[in-house]
Amino acid sequence: MSKIVALIGSPSPHSRTKGVIDSVLAQIAQKAGTRATTIQIGNLLSDLAVLSRDDASDQVRAALRAVEESDLLIVGTPVYKGSYPGLFKHFIDLLDYKALTGLPVGLVATGGSDRHALVVEHQLRPLFGFFNAQTLPTGVFIRDNVIVDGDVRDELVAARLNQLTHEAILALTATPAPYARHVA
Ligand SMILES: Cc1cc2nc3c(=O)[nH]c(=O)nc-3n(C[C@H](O)[C@H](O)[C@H](O)COP(=O)(O)O)c2cc1C
Repeated sequence: MSKIVALIGSPSPHSRTKGVIDSVLAQIAQKAGTRATTIQIGNLLSDLAVLSRDDASDQVRAALRAVEESDLLIVGTPVYKGSYPGLFKHFIDLLDYKALTGLPVGLVATGGSDRHALVVEHQLRPLFGFFNAQTLPTGVFIRDNVIVDGDVRDELVAARLNQLTHEAILALTATPAPYARHVA
């Protein structure tokens, strides 16, 4: 059975981003007939002050393994100071650099201002490019003021999320699970 994982980059325990990703994930999991797991940086905060994964807690190591062993990764992160949050990047820094090769990755960012909409293209996409991951074509930026209880109250943004969901399911069915994980 395929493993779908969402990684929520927000350090906040009341993450708007998580609300949106929960519904995206539920749709993908239902259509793909599989289960999904969510990892929240906000739940790992006190455990992230480590230099290497050898020093990491069991919880952090389990979260790293879940990402590395996933067949589809959906990343949802808030924009902080024109980029992704530092603690999200620190979690990413602890991943095995070969483990995401060929992995389909969906990219979603939320922020207070459209000025930072291109964080998805200019920062998240190259970050996963480093890993030779297969980022899905449609990246989605969502203004925080259109998110109400996890619901996206903007037709165009909701349509982009539907497109991302569609691309995720296609990638999941088209990509054999062990695809190219060892070619990096
Ligand atoms: C420390 C901090 C820095 C932020 N910096 C930006 C920013 O540079 N650009 C932006 O558009 N929004 C910025 N925001 C707003 C958040 O990205 C936005 O409210 C987001 O939806 C919060 O997501 P969350 O509830 O999942 O944490 C910032 C918020 C915080 C707390």
